[in-house]
Amino acid sequence: MSEVKFYYGENIPLEMHKVRIVQKLNLPPVERRLEAMKEAGYNTFLLKNKDIFMDMLTDSGVNAMSDRQQAAMMLADDSYAGSETFTKLENKIEEIFGKKYFLPTHQGRACENIIAQSLVKKDSVVPMNYHFTTTQAHITLNGGSVKEIFTDEALKLTSDCPFKGNLDIDKLIDVIESNGVENIPFVRMEAGTNLIGGQPFSLENMKEVRKVCDQYGLTLILDASLLADNLYFIKIREEQCKDMSIREITREMADLADIIYFSARKLGCARGGGICTSNEEMYMKMREYITLYEGFLTYGGMSVREMEAITVGLDETMDMDMINQGPQFIAYMTEELQKKGVPVITPAGGLGCHINAMGFVDHIPQNEYPAGVLAAAIYIISGVRGMERGTMSEQRDENGNEPLANMELVRLAMPRRVFTLSQVKYAADRIAWLYENRKLIGGLKFVDEPKVLRFFFGKLDTLSDWPTELMKKFKEDFGDSL
Ligand code: F0G
Repeated sequence: MSEVKFYYGENIPLEMHKVRIVQKLNLPPVERRLEAMKEAGYNTFLLKNKDIFMDMLTDSGVNAMSDRQQAAMMLADDSYAGSETFTKLENKIEEIFGKKYFLPTHQGRACENIIAQSLVKKDSVVPMNYHFTTTQAHITLNGGSVKEIFTDEALKLTSDCPFKGNLDIDKLIDVIESNGVENIPFVRMEAGTNLIGGQPFSLENMKEVRKVCDQYGLTLILDASLLADNLYFIKIREEQCKDMSIREITREMADLADIIYFSARKLGCARGGGICTSNEEMYMKMREYITLYEGFLTYGGMSVREMEAITVGLDETMDMDMINQGPQFIAYMTEELQKKGVPVITPAGGLGCHINAMGFVDHIPQNEYPAGVLAAAIYIISGVRGMERGTMSEQRDENGNEPLANMELVRLAMPRRVFTLSQVKYAADRIAWLYENRKLIGGLKFVDEPKVLRFFFGKLDTLSDWPTELMKKFKEDFGDSL
């Protein structure tokens, strides 16, 4: 795989911005980190930010904003109905995606709620390249089910496939034929496929999916939450697109989709979300739910300030100097870890650096949550907060059985333009130390397990006192240094 890189020297990503506002960080000593992890029930979602050094839980709502975004926020037009701010955003959406109608929502999963309530019925089957947690939850809540159609490459942990997020066309046709077109409300493609490691699909693949949708008269929905990363990878990895501008690639993708929705906590580097389409009938159907669940049609639960920031953020996303920052820092971190033998997902994708927990702590069985364990251990030895993306993130079936995840990953998200290179190197060095001492890490069990989306609030306990052993070794090697 040959990639055009925008690097300084061999592999040093170059920041195409300067830092003008900073926030002080706190790196508590290892004893406090251990205490904090216990208090959080070994669930990194439940840690408090004051105890965290580098928050790599997510890129959602925590990307750095630009000076232009902040300036735009001061110009926001505050009115319940008919705000000028909304018109600006609506126009920007039409300019970039070419869609006539825009429905604002408070965030990405709200779009999923509206789409699922409008289109999914009992026994509906929704084919997609891969599920996302909230997407699946909304589809099942409405009586439907998700059918993942990924290629054989998608679940290979190490690969040099440039587009692991591609949807398998033959399998798509099989799913349509075997379930019946009438039971398929739409096909969903997720850009920058989150749960397999932020992996992109190609423009070519999306065109093929569109052809199948046309053949069967099916609606194609694009989840564009992680579109920025996907655009970067299309631009550098897809031969036919190398001379196209980011705007041109975006427009081609948008033209292939009937409905586009996004979390503006990711796309647009602010906080909010939205759905756009040129299909009047679908627009009218979804519109009713916006006023019911989100807010009036000209704000949809968002503050006008955030809408101003999204408008500018979307515009800035059309710039390669901006969208290359996430993937290049992720590639740097992934390469640093690889050099030290740490098992990571390759090729490096968007969103974050993904560690293969089953390879890292291969002595821990899946029902003791290797990815959850590793996320907890990383926090204890570094103050870096990552996220479990494995069996803990799965939901029990109706009989209470726990499905084992296809992959056990720890995601170290890279909020865009937030961390410096030395911070990223610190995180990689500490994780490499943990890898050398990995046999000290033990398993976890749930002590408080919510029924829905258990990974958010569930509390766990250790099966042995491995955190204390790990801390002892840490003190031996690092003394009182943080
Ligand atoms: N779709 C994708 C692909 C996502 O990654 C997310 C959120 C959503 C939809 C839902 O958007 O959070 O604004 O409601 N992903 C976040 C994450 C939560 O950390 O990966 P939301």
